[in-house]
Amino acid sequence: DEVKDGSIRWRSPSNIALVKYWGKHGDQLPQNASVSFTLDGAATDTTLHYAARRSAGEGVEVELFFHGESKPDFTTRTKGFLERLLPIYPFLRQLSLRIDTTNSFPHSAGIASSASGMSALALCLVSLEERLFAPLTDRSEFNRKASYLSRLGSGSACRSVYGTAAVWGRVPDLGESSDEYAVPVGDRLHPVFQSYHDDILLISRTEKAVSSRAGHGLMEHNPYAPTRYAQANRRVVTMLDVLRTGDTERFGELVESEALTLHALMMSSHPYYTLIEPNTLHVINTLQQFRRETGHPVHFTLDAGPNVHLLYPDVVADPVKKFIREHLLHYCEDKMYLADRIGRGPEEL
Ligand code: PMV
Repeated sequence: DEVKDGSIRWRSPSNIALVKYWGKHGDQLPQNASVSFTLDGAATDTTLHYAARRSAGEGVEVELFFHGESKPDFTTRTKGFLERLLPIYPFLRQLSLRIDTTNSFPHSAGIASSASGMSALALCLVSLEERLFAPLTDRSEFNRKASYLSRLGSGSACRSVYGTAAVWGRVPDLGESSDEYAVPVGDRLHPVFQSYHDDILLISRTEKAVSSRAGHGLMEHNPYAPTRYAQANRRVVTMLDVLRTGDTERFGELVESEALTLHALMMSSHPYYTLIEPNTLHVINTLQQFRRETGHPVHFTLDAGPNVHLLYPDVVADPVKKFIREHLLHYCEDKMYLADRIGRGPEEL
């Protein structure tokens, strides 16, 4: 049958890992389990326009527009991703696709957009499948499929499909967990964590010297890799317990060690490299001093880059924001930070 023209639109958030995924194998499978908070404000808004394709060709027909501008490099990446999905979604060959995408956060702010971008596109694709064929059995099957497709696009993106918190990777105590897709763990969250903020201090907008893809690859020959994978798997179990009991101190010890371990892995790779910058360390030191003086439960984490995420419960938001303004902003490029919070997950628009 002829496909009717249509469009599907999803907004999907970014996420911040508490226990990090670093190292993969096979087709984007993780070497260890990871757990993340889903963010709220930092998100990608993607519209997938589809129409019947005039003449069926070999690959996928797609053009990507980012903030209204045609982007050949993004188009190439997206086309590659969609073509890898052809064994699951052969119907993509029969369509002409146009993707319109915008990020809520400033481009080149040094914020990774692959998690929000890939999950938004994956959600559009599963909605498209439902529209062209039949609804999936239920919401959790829908999410699982969207998470699976997200993972094929960018590993950590698979955790963005769920609100509040998600686990990706096999965890013995977590029956449903899988290396193939993430599962939600938000229902296990103590109220204190549901109120968490994540303020992202933008230390530098410079393009990363080493991509995440290359970074994962270097883990293959990292002498600490086996120890690291075992540690991360243990830490996910501990973190799930901490998230349930509401122990913000233990939480802080774990997330901070995870952030430093991630960067230590980069520094112990061959070739070694660094992504943190002097101002990253200035922020960390200043934060630790603030914590010693006030006792407030505010802790840092890092992504694969120099920016610092500050995680803290809502009860200390006033003093923490004052502290950021007065003592941390001068370490940030353009004196900027993004105020974010734990979010409820993607929404169809
Ligand atoms: O999803 P990727 O391949 O871009 O890897 C990113 C991994 C980290 O952000 C550094 C950690 C994580 O678990 O999100």
